[in-house]
Amino acid sequence: MSETFDLVLKNGTVVTPWGITATDVGVRNGRIAAIGALGSAKAAAVRDVRGLHVLPGAIDSQVHFREPGPTHKEDLETGSRAAVLGGVTSVFEMPNTAPPTTSADALNEKLTRARGRMWCDHAFYVGATPENAEALGDLEKLPGAAGVKMFMGSSTGTLLVADDEHVERVLRHGRRRVAVHAEDETRLNERKGLRVPGDPRSHPVWRDAEAALLATKRVVSLALKAARRVHVLHVSTGDEMAFLSHHKDIATVETTPNHLTLVAPECYERLGTYAQMNPPVRDAVHRDAIWAAVRAGVVDVLGSDHAPHTREEKDKGYPDTPSGMTGVQTLVPIMLDHVNAGRLSLERFVDLVAHGPQRIFGLANKGRIAVGFDADFTIVDMKAKHTIENKWIASRCGWTPFDGVTVTGWPVGTIVRGEAVMWDGALLGTARGAPLAFLETFRSANGC
Ligand code: DOR
Repeated sequence: MSETFDLVLKNGTVVTPWGITATDVGVRNGRIAAIGALGSAKAAAVRDVRGLHVLPGAIDSQVHFREPGPTHKEDLETGSRAAVLGGVTSVFEMPNTAPPTTSADALNEKLTRARGRMWCDHAFYVGATPENAEALGDLEKLPGAAGVKMFMGSSTGTLLVADDEHVERVLRHGRRRVAVHAEDETRLNERKGLRVPGDPRSHPVWRDAEAALLATKRVVSLALKAARRVHVLHVSTGDEMAFLSHHKDIATVETTPNHLTLVAPECYERLGTYAQMNPPVRDAVHRDAIWAAVRAGVVDVLGSDHAPHTREEKDKGYPDTPSGMTGVQTLVPIMLDHVNAGRLSLERFVDLVAHGPQRIFGLANKGRIAVGFDADFTIVDMKAKHTIENKWIASRCGWTPFDGVTVTGWPVGTIVRGEAVMWDGALLGTARGAPLAFLETFRSANGC
C-alpha cells in the first residue's frame, strides 16, 4: 500500500544536509515524513516545484519587531508578514521593546500578542540588565525564550550592561549561549564628539572598529572565565573575525547581509542616515574581511538585524536619527544574489540560515530537511530576476536600503509546518506562527 501525505513537493532540487538532490518531499502532520521518489503516493495536495530549489526554512536569528512599544515602526503582525513574504520561516525577536523583555511577564506578553497574529514561528530574547542578572538562569528556560541578549553598548532602547562586573554576573547565571551586542560603551561615550552634525559618514568614525573589537575581546575573556558560551551578534570588522577565529570553542559568530553588501563611505553618500546602524557599516577592507570569514567558516549564522524606523525619524538629521534598517524581507533575495554572483555557495547560504542556527542554538525539529523535522521550506527560483522596491516592503515603515536593486534569485514559496503562507508573492491562509522549541529548554517547556 502506498503512503499518504498531506502535501508532496514534487520534482524539486532539494538541499538536504547531505547534499543537493533532485527528489520529492512528503509532509504529514506538519513534519517531513519522506524524502525520495513519491510518484505513487497519495497526497491531499501536490506542488510541482520542478526548476525550483527547496531549502530548509530560513531562520532569521536577529529581528526587532517593536511590539509592545514603538509599534508605529513595526509590530509582530507586520514584521512577521514581511518575514514570510521574503522566504523566512522563523525569527528570534530582540528584547529592546517598551517595556523591554526583561521579565517572565514581559516574555509572556509577547507570546500572547504573537498568537494568531504572527505569520512565522518565533522565539523572543530576554534582555539582560544589571538588575535581572540573577534571574536570567530561570528566565532563559521559559517556553518561547530564545535565550539572553546583552547590549554592552547603548543602541536603540534602554538595555545596557556596560561594565565587566555586570557582564560577568550575567554570564554566571544560566547555561544557554548568550547573544551579545559588542560595542564598548566607555569608548562610545569618549568619542561622541566625533559625530559630525548632518554627516552620517561620521557614524563609523564615532562607533569605530576598535569599539567593537574591545567589547568582543572583553566578552570572550569573561566568557572563558565564567565558562559560558556566547554568540557575538552582527560582527562588523575584520579584526573581530581574526580574533574570533581563535575562540570558536566558546564564541559563535553572526554577521548581517548589510555588512556584506553595503560599504562605506558610498552607502552613506547614497542613502544618508538610511544606512545608519549599530554597529556601523564600514569600509571595503572590513567588508572583504567579513566575506573571507564567511568563506573560511568562521561565521556561523546570518541575522538580518531587521531594525525598522520611520522615514520621519530617519529624516531628522544625523546624529538625531535612530540606527537600524529593515532586513527580514530582503535577507533571502540579497543573499541569493550573492550566491549567483559566486560569492558563496547555495550550501553555505543554507548553512548560515538553517543548519547553523539549528546547530548553535539547539533548535528542536527545525533547520534541516530530514525526516521528523518540521516541514518548513523556503522555495526559491535561482534564475528569477527581480528589482527590490520599497512598495514590496510589508514592514510598517515601508522602506528598504535595497530599493531599486535588481537581484537574481528570489523566494517564490514559504511553507511553515506544512502550510504554504506565501506563494508567488501572495500571502496565503492565516497567521499560525508558533513558538520555537529548543533542545536545552525542551524538558522545562514540556513541564517534565
Ligand atoms: O542599528 C541597530 N538598531 N542596532 C541595534 O543594536 C538596535 C537596532 C534597533 O533596535 O533599532
